[in-house]
Amino acid sequence: MADTREQDRDGATPNVSDVHTTDASTTAEVEAVLDAPAERGEPILQVRNLVKHFPLTQGVLFKKQVGAVKAVDGVSFDLYKGETLGIVGESGCGKSTVAKLLMTLETATSGEVFYKGQDITKLSGRALKAVRRNIQMVFQDPYTSLNPRMTVGDIIGEPFEIHPEVAPKGDRRKRVQELLDVVGLNPEYINRYPHQFSGGQRQRIGIARGLALNPEIIICDEPVSALDVSVQAQVVNLMEKLQDEFDLSYIFIAHDLSIVRHISDRVGVMYLGRMAEIGTDAEIYEHPTHPYTQALLSAVPVPDPEARAGRERIILAGDVPSPANPPSGCRFRTRCWKAQDKCAQESPLLAVPGAFAGKDTPAAHESACHFAEEKQVVGAA
Ligand SMILES: Nc1ncnc2c1ncn2[C@@H]1O[C@H](COP(=O)(O)OP(=O)(O)O)[C@@H](O)[C@H]1O
Ligand code: SF4
Ligand SMILES: [Mg+2]
Repeated sequence: MADTREQDRDGATPNVSDVHTTDASTTAEVEAVLDAPAERGEPILQVRNLVKHFPLTQGVLFKKQVGAVKAVDGVSFDLYKGETLGIVGESGCGKSTVAKLLMTLETATSGEVFYKGQDITKLSGRALKAVRRNIQMVFQDPYTSLNPRMTVGDIIGEPFEIHPEVAPKGDRRKRVQELLDVVGLNPEYINRYPHQFSGGQRQRIGIARGLALNPEIIICDEPVSALDVSVQAQVVNLMEKLQDEFDLSYIFIAHDLSIVRHISDRVGVMYLGRMAEIGTDAEIYEHPTHPYTQALLSAVPVPDPEARAGRERIILAGDVPSPANPPSGCRFRTRCWKAQDKCAQESPLLAVPGAFAGKDTPAAHESACHFAEEKQVVGAA
């Protein structure tokens, strides 16, 4: 598995700001990827070579491990304070598993997640509880993620049971009403039940719960995917407003590139447990260099018929391979129209491709492809 940098292993604060590797095998290789964007300031979260393998077992009494689902297999990225990092990719590519690892709801197989210099994958007890307060989550499905038997007041106030220091018992009702107001719901709805609300309103309740403990980071796992298109924009606008108001950093997960563009400062594209390409929204949407991103963008619906007529739709052959048995080398090679022998033999590093390195071009962003080339996808931007 990929190496990690010395300073990470020591547990000291890594002071590099932008390492993205999928399969860096040496420290030198990782260092070569360093490309510090000074203007972004300090990262608030640094994810390094994160791996989650779910064991596949056989047998009823004596369970024997016969393999593993490599749900997340060496993912690295940074989240900067105040930014929104979008993470996109088809269903099953490992997005929710990344979210759960960052929330410490799943235990990492290996790798590190630094929050203010502390590797949270190694924390337990009181130290973990303190970190968890600052990293909250908004879930995908507002219909199933809210307990139907609890009132809205109890749902939003539930985090205070675990962290009573944030709102002492006597203040909780007032605090929950404030939170309802903040997310655009009538504070008088405090005693209602989830079924009395629409999908969009329920997601506002989920957001209010996420805000209850004044977190610094909110991980949003497909927060609007289950909502009607007309409601999606309202919820995304609310999230943007709250980000400014409370100085939040977001990780915004979606399977759909069009939603992410509106809210993201940077976007990472995942494929089969790895990061294929990462960059600013303009770099990814207007100057994608990874064939997978180009294919995804070519499938984004374009409302303008003229633009639609002029664009080439890239249809990917075959299905996504099983994460229990991913292809050798580049994971995308079984569906890539540019694949060559090298792609089966060598796993491409997520780095600025040699052809663009050091050049002042938006194509000079990290892309895990041996043959990265800029291709503008008409209408997608
Ligand atoms: N608890 C689990 N046990 C076994 N496999 C899992 C578990 N959770 C997720 N997976 C598998 O890991 C892969 C990634 O899943 P997930 O992170 O949910 O993807 P996404 O959110 O991108 O759709 C999928 O193949 C999924 O079936
Ligand atoms: S490394 Fe090869 S298979 Fe992978 S995306 Fe690039 S060209 Fe395609
Ligand atoms: Mg998911």
